[in-house]
Amino acid sequence: MIQKDSQQLLNLFHNLVLAISDKIIELKKQFNSDLENLNKNLISSEELHNKYIGRKGLINHLYAMLSKVSNQEKPILGNEINKLKIFINDSLKYSKKQNDINLSSNYDDITLPSFQKEVGTMHPSTIIINKIKTIFEKIGFSSVYGPEIDSEYYNFEALNIPEYHPARDMQDTFYIDNEILLRTHTSGSQIHFMEKNEPPIRIISPGKVYRNEDISVRSHCQFHQVEGLYIDKNVSFADLKGTLNYFAEELFGRNIKTRFRPSFFPFTEPSAEMDVYWGLESESDYRITKGTGWLEILGCGMVDPEVFKSVDYDPEKWTGFAFGIGIERMAMLLYGIDDIRSFYQGDVRFLRQFK
Ligand code: PHE
Repeated sequence: MIQKDSQQLLNLFHNLVLAISDKIIELKKQFNSDLENLNKNLISSEELHNKYIGRKGLINHLYAMLSKVSNQEKPILGNEINKLKIFINDSLKYSKKQNDINLSSNYDDITLPSFQKEVGTMHPSTIIINKIKTIFEKIGFSSVYGPEIDSEYYNFEALNIPEYHPARDMQDTFYIDNEILLRTHTSGSQIHFMEKNEPPIRIISPGKVYRNEDISVRSHCQFHQVEGLYIDKNVSFADLKGTLNYFAEELFGRNIKTRFRPSFFPFTEPSAEMDVYWGLESESDYRITKGTGWLEILGCGMVDPEVFKSVDYDPEKWTGFAFGIGIERMAMLLYGIDDIRSFYQGDVRFLRQFK
């Protein structure tokens, strides 16, 4: 009798284990189909959470059934239920995340204020260089670039400034070693270009230059120049004047007055400096023009035959003119900047003023 009872009990346990196993499998199927409904937004993830994981949910219902199972089977079935619980939890979390992503990318609320994007401004030197480029492009000049670190040959020798020539003192130089230096002017770009090209030539070459000078309100150890070079047959000083007057009018306006003063550069002969009439109306006009009303804005001249020889051009055949414009000087005039140091201090309050 006792034996029969225990056999019955065993059968009962066995049936219970089978029932719980079936339930686990069934629950997983059910959850998967619920998950599809969740993805179709037919049901919310909170609802599903309550249905499966909640305190009175189906998973806890399964755990409750375990109390009637033998101690041997308990951990095995318990483990299966745990796995299902984790699977359901993870699936719900994942689909919530996906949903949030979809929401944020699909949702454009046009009534929200827009983000304030910080837009950078162009450096005043860059603005002037771009203006000058445009002015010369209109009359057929193209822009080329030379190296900032260059050799004595390109910066001096090929430009008719031999060693020990006093003209080297006009431009205090930063040397890197005996031969190599930071260029003191953009005129070396002329040589680089002429070595690789044949006339006729119409180029400008903007860039940074360096001079070993004390930094003050008026001078800096780095600044920008735009070099210009025009070479063809029968180029005359009148061509030089015409081109540079056109440039001054384009940059400062049609009414600008210019004058050419004789000057000296070893690589041009004859040489000149061009001034523009700035006026003598305010106190600062007196200061910046040193009481004359005139302001020097560039150096220029007819290319010296010695320069042609160093690049193997025939000086009997070719003629040309060159000029070098100081950019910061130009920007200071056009924008009324009175301290050259402000160009290189990186103060955005200064830089933001220029558009
Ligand atoms: N390179 C000269 C300077 O830096 C300017 C210049 C260029 C003069 C070309 C004449 C011709 O002062």
